[in-house]
Amino acid sequence: MERQKHWNKIYQEKDPDQFSWTEQIPEVSLEWIRKSDLPKSAAIIDVGGGESKLIDFLLKEGYTNLTVLDISEAAIQKTKKRLGKMAEKVNFIATDILQLEPSAYDLWHDRATFHFLVSDQEIQQYLSILDQSGARHLVLGTFSENGPEKCSGLPVQRYSEEALTKLLHEKWGKIKCTTKDHLTPFGTNQNFLFCHFKRISNKNQSI
Ligand SMILES: C[S@@+](CC[C@H](N)C(=O)[O-])C[C@H]1O[C@@H](n2cnc3c(N)ncnc32)[C@H](O)[C@@H]1O
Repeated sequence: MERQKHWNKIYQEKDPDQFSWTEQIPEVSLEWIRKSDLPKSAAIIDVGGGESKLIDFLLKEGYTNLTVLDISEAAIQKTKKRLGKMAEKVNFIATDILQLEPSAYDLWHDRATFHFLVSDQEIQQYLSILDQSGARHLVLGTFSENGPEKCSGLPVQRYSEEALTKLLHEKWGKIKCTTKDHLTPFGTNQNFLFCHFKRISNKNQSI
């Protein structure tokens, strides 16, 4: 509840050019979604999508089964407003990701949401929900080990490529990772780690 209030307040009071995390073009996410072997009808979820324009780009590219999930109803409303009529083509879910009902997706995208989970218990809960979604692709962006220790006043869990790969290794095989400096609207840099994982269909079999 506290978490939801925190994010609603932010989205009610500020616009995207006042958020450190805003990207004009979500280049890495877009490129890696394009390069996955998925058809345009694949079910794609953007977890903690906020006001990200990822969804706008995916719609323009012809993806037809898109979901934006965010804990903040205010963020969802602002995204719907920005999209106008196109919003009718998107599924919106206003919930804490840790409360997501059983779901089915092909590709799970998360930039800068997972890293707000800092306790082992919540991290494992997130991974269990991800697992149950059946997603085959995971495109995950977190602050890197050289990234900030906090975001929007909240502590974050920073990851190295090794740490993230190890955390996920039982169910997910790494396709690639990269680090990227994100230039914030205020002219500062935040170092991100992006990784693309593919589900390992059999524990003893590599991807
Ligand atoms: C730093 S912003 C990133 C927004 C977006 N992914 C982007 O790249 O522009 C984090 C987003 O995650 C959402 N969020 C934080 N905790 C969440 C949770 N437990 N469940 C769902 N969304 C959450 C926030 O409301 C916010 O929109």
